[in-house]
This record gives sequence, structure tokens and C-alpha cells, in this order.
Amino acid sequence: MTAYDFDEIIDRTGHHSAKWGAVAGDCLPMWVADMDFRSPPSAIKAMIERAEHGVFGYTLDPPQLKEAIVERMERLYNWQIRPEDVLFSPGLVLALCATCSGFGGPGDTVLIQTPVYGSFFKAVRANHKFPANINMEYIADDAHSFHYENDYDEFELVARDPKTSIHLQCNPQNPAGFIYSRAELERIGEICLKHNVLIVADEIHSDLILEGKHIPIATLDEEIAQNTITMIAPSKTYNLAGMACSVLIAQNKEIRETMAAALQGISAHVNIMGYEAAYGAYAGGDEWLRQLLIYLKDNRDYALAYIREHMPLIKTTVPDSTYLLWMDMRDLPIDGDATAFCRETAGVAPSPGEFFGEAGKGFVRLNFGCPRAMLERGLERLKAAVDELALKV
Ligand SMILES: Cc1ncc(COP(=O)(O)O)c(C=O)c1O
Repeated sequence: MTAYDFDEIIDRTGHHSAKWGAVAGDCLPMWVADMDFRSPPSAIKAMIERAEHGVFGYTLDPPQLKEAIVERMERLYNWQIRPEDVLFSPGLVLALCATCSGFGGPGDTVLIQTPVYGSFFKAVRANHKFPANINMEYIADDAHSFHYENDYDEFELVARDPKTSIHLQCNPQNPAGFIYSRAELERIGEICLKHNVLIVADEIHSDLILEGKHIPIATLDEEIAQNTITMIAPSKTYNLAGMACSVLIAQNKEIRETMAAALQGISAHVNIMGYEAAYGAYAGGDEWLRQLLIYLKDNRDYALAYIREHMPLIKTTVPDSTYLLWMDMRDLPIDGDATAFCRETAGVAPSPGEFFGEAGKGFVRLNFGCPRAMLERGLERLKAAVDELALKV
């Protein structure tokens, strides 16, 4: 059995990496959600073989990729879908935009639990709707960690407004890293059905489970399935974001056709290499993913232990999924903005908390999807800057 080397430091400079290109000098990028690992060999091989064919004309959705997704949903979740339930999109943000343009009317509201992945707000506003944000409740667990809880009475109050046509859901949750429980999903499913609100389940992080179990909301029951568009992708799982191939599952024919028409209105099709990479990853990337998850969980535990010991004023979530650590920096005596402090004083660039909505102010999100040595370097830099703060107080 191959042992994949996630410790290898791969130089990404000079390759137009969005993550690495956004920082100057020696600053360490730990922001946007891609990983500093090579993708599974099966994905790379599929792309090389296709490139060697040498002809790259217009392309159709590959049936074997649809079959691989059908098989995967059955295997992972005992979820029976059909190949025709599957649509593709060059990226998930684009699919979120298509949803917000294709469903509901102009001026409608879209129910969102925050803090959440910032492009949700952009997709809503760019398509002439308004985000109706419900702030999740911050609950401290102990001196070091916190989690969020959702208020479903408030959720129903927003859902029952006739102007609310869509609920954008992020499960597993970015930035907090929690996985919604079955009970919560049932409540969401029931409220959305009752008030005729379409569920758009962004489950892009669902393969990155460090602890616990992900339940796709559409698997709860047939009625909920008929009211849901589920969005997944090999992009986060197999580090293929640049290949822009995302997967939508809509079991309701009318919803699927509306979605397909909305996508056609704003996008071209997926790039040939995106299809190849997706198929190669899904068909041959299982063992790579199994080893990746062990590595990521160790990275998570390392980061949590390090922060607890050396930077006790920083509180974090304990993510059950993703490679993202949500950090509450509000107790640090920083003069100014937490992200600027990290970037300019520590030389580490996390994602700014504000990207995730108002509720993210004073927080940053640190990406630990990188070789351990890089994570250690990032945390050591942060510690040195935090130690300096203590000297000044
Ligand atoms: C919840 C969520 N949805 C969508 C995306 C982006 O998807 P894509 O790169 O396919 O547009 C991200 C990326 O971080 C994400 O975290």
C-alpha cells in the first residue's frame, strides 16, 4: 500500500496560486480553503492521459463520472440517486449564484445562519436578493474552546416570511467546522417544507470528516429530498479547486430543470480537465483520502494543543470536519484588526473573520491543510507576536 507523503513541502510560488500570490514577502498564507498537498495520483494520471489525447473540443458530461457519483452516494450514505439527478457546474460559488438567480423573485430573502462562508452573501446580493442572517449563538465550552448553537424558533420566524424563498445551508459548517446533527437537519427540513423554502445544501466539505458522521439533508426523507439541491465537489476533498468541477444533486425534476436553465444562463460547461480530475479522484482516491484525514486530524490536534499551551487567550472551535480552525482573537490586547495583526506583526495570513459576516468580527480562520512543518512555523510565528503583545501590556 502506498503511504502518501503529506509532509512534503511543495513550492507553489510561480504557479499563480491564489493562496500564495496574495501574500507579500515571507508571510505564510493560511487563508483560502485549498491545501498545500499534491492531489491523488489517480486524478493526476487521468489528466495526463487525457492531455496526451491532444484534442480538446467541446465536451459532454461524462457518464462514468455520473455513475461514480451515484455509486459514491449509495456507498457513503445509503442514498439512492440516479445519474439524471446529477448536474455539473464549474465551481460551487457559481452554482450558488445560479440558485439565487433561478429560484424565488427579485427582492426575496435568503435565510443564512452566520458566521458562514462569505460568498453566500455575495451570491445572494449579486442576484438581487437579500441575506436574512441569523447569528448562531456563541457558547463557551471552557477557557479554550467554544461552539455555536442555532435558534430554530428564530429560523422559523424568518422562514415563514413569504419573501423567504431559499435557505442556504453550509454543512459541514465553514468556518466553525461542526457537523449538523440529525435532529437539527430534521428541524430545518421540516420548517423549510412547511413554509415552502428551497433548501440549498452546500455540502462541499462533507468528505473531510475528522470525527463523527455527515448526514446529507436530502437523505432524511423523500419529501425533503424533493425540496433540496445538494452541492458537493471533489475540489476540497482532493485539492482540485483550480479544476473547477462541482456536482449538484437535485432529485426533483422541476427543481433540476430550473437549476440547469439558471446555470446555462450564466456559465459555460465544466472544463475537460475538470471532469477528468474529478473522475480520477472519485474512482481512485479513496486510500489517499483515508490517509489525508488521519494527517489532518493530527494537524488539528497539534494546533489545538499548541494554542492552548502557548496562546491561551485565543479561543477556538474544535472542528469535527474541514481543515479550518476558527479562532476568537477578541481577548488579545491587539491595537486594531486581528487579521492585520496576524499578517503584519506575525507574518501569517489567515482568512479575515469579517469575510464570514458581521458575527466574524474579531475572529480569524486558520487553514491547517498544509505540511506539519508549515503549520508549526505558522503557529510559532503567531506565538512570537502574541508574546510581544504581553510584553507591551
Ligand atoms: C462552503 C463553501 N462553499 C463553496 C466554496 C467554493 O467552492 P468553489 O471553489 O467550487 O466555487 C467554498 C470554498 O471555500 C466553501 O467553503
